[in-house]
Amino acid sequence: MREKLEQIKKKAMEAMEALHDLDQLEEFRVKTLGKKGELTLVLRGMGSLPPQERPVIGQLANEIRTALEKALGKKTVELKEAALEKRLEEETIDVTIPGKQPDLGKLHPLTKMLNELEEIFLGMGFDIAEGPEIEWDSYNFEALNIPQNHPARDVQDTFYINDNILLRTHTSPVQIRTMLKQKPPIKIICPGRVYRSDAVDATHSPIFHQIEGLVVDKNITMGDLKGVLDVFAKQVFGQETKTKFRPHHFPFTEPSAEVDVSCAICRGEGCRVCSHTGWIEILGAGMVHPKVLEYCGIDPKVYSGFAFGMGLDRITNLKYGIDDIRLLFENDIRFLKQF
Ligand code: PHE
Repeated sequence: MREKLEQIKKKAMEAMEALHDLDQLEEFRVKTLGKKGELTLVLRGMGSLPPQERPVIGQLANEIRTALEKALGKKTVELKEAALEKRLEEETIDVTIPGKQPDLGKLHPLTKMLNELEEIFLGMGFDIAEGPEIEWDSYNFEALNIPQNHPARDVQDTFYINDNILLRTHTSPVQIRTMLKQKPPIKIICPGRVYRSDAVDATHSPIFHQIEGLVVDKNITMGDLKGVLDVFAKQVFGQETKTKFRPHHFPFTEPSAEVDVSCAICRGEGCRVCSHTGWIEILGAGMVHPKVLEYCGIDPKVYSGFAFGMGLDRITNLKYGIDDIRLLFENDIRFLKQF
């Protein structure tokens, strides 16, 4: 019996050495030391020993059990440490791997261009005024010297809401609103959305944007208009840019002009963008018509003024080399990401 016990111990110690994980170790513990384990089974057979041997064998069995338990404890600690070591190794984080780039929102090209233009005019001492997109027919047309049946009404195909109310076709009614509530000197720009029932194509959209300018004071001349627009064009399109006034007609300005800038792409040589003329039309302008001043209670014998109106969409497209106005309104992320 003694030999059998010693053999169990030897076998168990050897077997334990060969174990590599905690599950195996637990299995081993049950098999060796558990209720149905080898050691227990041997001890059960103690009844058949002569009485004087029993305490000796009993003691030996207990010593073996203790020794095995101690060895098991040690092995458990070893395996736990090894398992932790292995986990730490597997879970290491490579801090040099580049992170995920978050997608940042950006300003729309129209907003960027508007911000830039506002900076330029603020720098020349202009204030910013705004007016409603849903407007009185009288402010959009009558007050601007465009009476009922005037041919200019046809040019600006209008979305009417009822007989007296419409979606403004230009930002010029903000001139009227400003002059009705503020006396000269006046020096404002009015950016905003405008509407015309145009068919959509690469250069037309029923919704687009204008920036109106209005200066009213004593002794304002066409020279002031030319000077302001010159500074503006140079800041937007580059210092070598030239401006050119062509005679034109608007009911609310007299005299009136259309204003061209020298093509920034070909520098006046002629290219596809300027239709080989070297010039690009960017705005309408003129001296505020005396009838418009009178409508607003400003004496045209004392005061004079100039006004201009430009298409923000067109200037944005020129500046960024965009060849289709629809891109500005479709909000395709692939397009917007480029700005
Ligand atoms: N309102 C004109 C348009 O929409 C532009 C303009 C504004 C012309 C001011 C002259 C003066 O075409």
